[in-house]
Amino acid sequence: MANDASAVFDTLSPAVSKGSLADPFTPPADSALWRKNFLLGAATASYQIEGAVNEDGRLPSIWDTFSAIPGKVLAGDTGAVACDHYHRWEADIEMLASLGLEGYRLSIAWPRVMDAAGVPNRKGLDFYKRLLNRLKEKGITTFVTLYHWDLPQHLEDRGGWLNRDTAYRFADYADLMSRELAGTVDAWATLNEPWCSAYLGYGNGHHAPGLANDRFATQAMHHLLLAHGLAVPVLRANDPASQKGIVANIGRGTPNSDSAADQRAAHLFEVQHNAWILDPLLKGSYPQDLFELWPGTEPLVLDGDMETISAPLDFLGINYYFRTNVASDGAHGFRDVPLEGVERTQMGWEVYPDGLRDLLTGFKKTYHNLPPIYITENGMASDDQVTDGHVDDTQRISFLKRHLAAVDQAIKAGVDIRGYFLWSLMDNFEWAFGYERRFGVVHVDYSTQKRTVKHSAELVAKFLKERKARA
Ligand code: FCB
Repeated sequence: MANDASAVFDTLSPAVSKGSLADPFTPPADSALWRKNFLLGAATASYQIEGAVNEDGRLPSIWDTFSAIPGKVLAGDTGAVACDHYHRWEADIEMLASLGLEGYRLSIAWPRVMDAAGVPNRKGLDFYKRLLNRLKEKGITTFVTLYHWDLPQHLEDRGGWLNRDTAYRFADYADLMSRELAGTVDAWATLNEPWCSAYLGYGNGHHAPGLANDRFATQAMHHLLLAHGLAVPVLRANDPASQKGIVANIGRGTPNSDSAADQRAAHLFEVQHNAWILDPLLKGSYPQDLFELWPGTEPLVLDGDMETISAPLDFLGINYYFRTNVASDGAHGFRDVPLEGVERTQMGWEVYPDGLRDLLTGFKKTYHNLPPIYITENGMASDDQVTDGHVDDTQRISFLKRHLAAVDQAIKAGVDIRGYFLWSLMDNFEWAFGYERRFGVVHVDYSTQKRTVKHSAELVAKFLKERKARA
């Protein structure tokens, strides 16, 4: 079969496998990517791939509710079936392993594993146990995110992340999961991208639960970070051998001109995207400039919260996608000024690998206690088509190569970066953009659920095979 994952090593595009074309992916000989202990993997998230939303006692999440509201998600798509991974997980792990990927970052669906009273749901837990045991059997390093945005709806009904109690419910959930799964998880990430949960969920309403108020966003952020801080010691107690961390998305903001106002705007952009999360985690305080941008939005912080939030981490997960060019909005903040003539992806996001390097080297200067870093997501969407059993995702190959070069440059500049996860293993439910935006290195035909390995994944597999052979 032309492009079955299991046969991937035999199906490299003829020109590449014969070596008649320069391989457009393989990193240069001096790249840190050749180091065997630099982990290369792929990432997914529960709601984006699992489907089976009503099975085995899973409760509704805020994304079931949100995606059912007309107009919230492109084309009215929902995660009800997604990649049907809940039923196809075995073949999906075979595919991951056949590509030679060494790490897999997945997330657990909180509504699958416990009910409103905190009673464990055995069937849901068993799903993750089977999955993680199989990954261990395959020798794949497992990064497990506890919260990748699918909050149980019953918690949202009681205020969601605006309710401080949700942070304590999260710690209970972390307790259950780390007792049940200890030994099968190499690294726990408490939250995925609290910026998106707080700002897109409660600040501008583009994501579930769809509320739009800056004051809500700062309070939701505080409760999310508190949830993280409460969970870390629980994870440490129950599963001491694993690493504990959190995943933050970071954004590069560049000034549209040399004017002081535009420079300030770019600074505020990065405060809002990066320091809002990283300062509390690594410095134990919120950046005061945030409240210049959003006056009067200081969250309610109780005694001891900042100490809880800033407890040391074993690793920091970084997700990076693009930069934003900004100018002053003439008042407190910034406005986007999209650049003309730059390379963009299917999302309209600018391809800007230097942003990743510059942010990482900048963090090393700003945060003296910066933990070891894993790039927990990086990738791009393209309108990929299967032609004669092949997917030629040329732009993605070049995107990955350039971003991995940026990672290598940051490593050479002294940043401790230990691994990189492609977003994503396969095309999936891209939140408000539904299934139209394809981020996978494996193509999914949603009418048949057929997986087709894209050319990018073939080249990553080829590199990993070579690296292994040299070790
Ligand atoms: C990130 C999310 C991930 C995916 C990528 C494209 O913000 O963590 O789930 O949607 O963007």
